[in-house]
Amino acid sequence: MAKERVVFVCENCGVSFPKWMGRCTACNEWSTLVESVEIKKAAHPSRDATLAIPYSEIDISPADRMETGFSEIDRLLGGGLVRGSLVLVGGDPGIGKSTLMLQVASGLQRSGQKVLYVSGEESPAQVKLRGNRIGLTGDPLFMLPVRDMDAIEAEVARLRPSVLILDSIQTMMNPNMLSVPGSITQVREATNRLLVLAKEQGVACFIIGHITKDGAIAGPKSLEHMVDAVLYFEGDRLHSNRILRVQKNRFGSASELCLFTMEENGLQPVTNPSLALLKERPAGSSGSVVACCIEGTQSLCFEIQALVSSGVLGNPRRMTEGLDHNRVAMLLAVMEKRLGCHLGGEDVFINVPGGLYIDDPGLDLPVVAAVWSSLRRKPVDPHTAVFGEIGLAGEVRAVSSCDKRIAEAKALGFHRIVMPATNLQTREREEDHIELLGVRNLKDSLEHIMVNS
Ligand code: TYD
Ligand code: MG
Repeated sequence: MAKERVVFVCENCGVSFPKWMGRCTACNEWSTLVESVEIKKAAHPSRDATLAIPYSEIDISPADRMETGFSEIDRLLGGGLVRGSLVLVGGDPGIGKSTLMLQVASGLQRSGQKVLYVSGEESPAQVKLRGNRIGLTGDPLFMLPVRDMDAIEAEVARLRPSVLILDSIQTMMNPNMLSVPGSITQVREATNRLLVLAKEQGVACFIIGHITKDGAIAGPKSLEHMVDAVLYFEGDRLHSNRILRVQKNRFGSASELCLFTMEENGLQPVTNPSLALLKERPAGSSGSVVACCIEGTQSLCFEIQALVSSGVLGNPRRMTEGLDHNRVAMLLAVMEKRLGCHLGGEDVFINVPGGLYIDDPGLDLPVVAAVWSSLRRKPVDPHTAVFGEIGLAGEVRAVSSCDKRIAEAKALGFHRIVMPATNLQTREREEDHIELLGVRNLKDSLEHIMVNS
C-alpha cells in the first residue's frame, strides 16, 4: 500500500524536510522550501517483485539502434539512437535545440519511426512554422502541446511512439506536486517518470533542457546523472557556428563533437570542420598558430591566437576565450620562469576563433608559441602545425592519439609538424610528404616554429 505524506522540499538542492523552515539546513539557501506530497511505498516488496538474475544469465545482445537520418547525430550517439535510452540535449535559450530536434524528428520518420513531439513552450502552429522554415513536408511527427506528465504518459500508452521529444523539461510538471514547473523537484520527478517510460516501454526520449544563469530554474546539470547520454550545444548565439558536444554517453565515446552552422533553413552540418575553422586564418601574421587536437575520437586542426600588448602599469589583463583560463595562466608562468619572458606588465589575450572550447593538454605548445610569436612580433611558419603538452620544467611531453593528429594536419596540406620527441620515438611508421620535428623542451621548439629563425 502506498501512503501519502506532506513534506517540504528545497527547490535549490532537492533535500526534503518534515516541517517548513525559513532556511534550508542542507544548502543554506533562504526561502527555498516548498510544500510537496511524497508517496511512500509499502516497506515490504510485493510478491511479484523482480527477482535477481545470476550473472551468467545476463543478456548482452547489442543495443537495438535506430538511425536518426542525420549521420552526425548518429555518430555522436555512438552509431544511432538506442531504443529505450534517455538523451539530454542542453544549451542556452535560442541556440537551436528545438530546431535540431525537429530536424532529427523528420529524419527518424524517414527511417520509419513514429515520433511524438511534446511542446510545453510553443503552440503547434509555432512548431509548424519552424518546420516550414526548415523545409519539413509530409507528416514527420505527432504533436502534443501539454505540460502535464500524466497526459504525456497516457498519450505514449495510446500512440506507442518509438521516440519521444520533450521540449523542454523545465516546463513539465506533476500537478499533484505543489512546487512550480522548472523547480528542481518537478524537473527530477518528470525525468524519473520518463526513465520508467523509456526502460519499461522501450521509448527513446530526447529531453531538451535550457541552461540557466541563476538557480531559479533547475538546469540540465542536475539531470546528467539520470540520463544515458548528454549532448550540449555550445557557441555564440550571434555567430552562426554551433558545436554539439557529447558530455556523457553510456553507449559510445564521450567528448565527441560535431560542428553545425545555423542557416536560414535550419542547422547544417559542417563536413570538414578543420577546413572551416582555418578558413579565415591570417597566415603569416604574428600570434597565430595552428594546433592539432583530439576531441573524443575526432582530430581537429584550428587556430589559436594570442595578443600581447603592454598593459596599464601594475594592472596586466589576462583574457582567455575557448581554453581553460587556469591552464593558460600556468603556461604564462612557465614562460616567465623557463624562457625568461617578461609578461608581468603585459596584457595577454588568447582566443580560439570559431566559438570552440577545447580542453586538451596537446594545446599547451601551440598556446606558448602563439604568445611568444606575438611577444617577439615574429610570425609563425604558416605551413607548420603544432601540438604537445608542457610540464612545469618547460619540458615538452607526449600526448595521446598522435597518429590521428598527424593525419589531420597532413590531409589539410601542412608541410611540417612540431611535436613531442617522445611521441615521434614511439611511432613505427615513417611519414611522407610531411616533416615531423620532435622537440624536448620549450627552448628548441620555439626555434623551429617561428619563421626565419
Ligand atoms: P531554437 O531552435 O528555437 O532555439 P532553442 O530551442 O534552443 O531555444 O532556435 C532559435 C534561433 O535559431 C532563432 O534565433 C532563429 C534561429 N533560426 C535560424 O537562424 N534558422 C532557422 O532555420 C531556424 C528554424 C531558426
Ligand atoms: Mg526551443
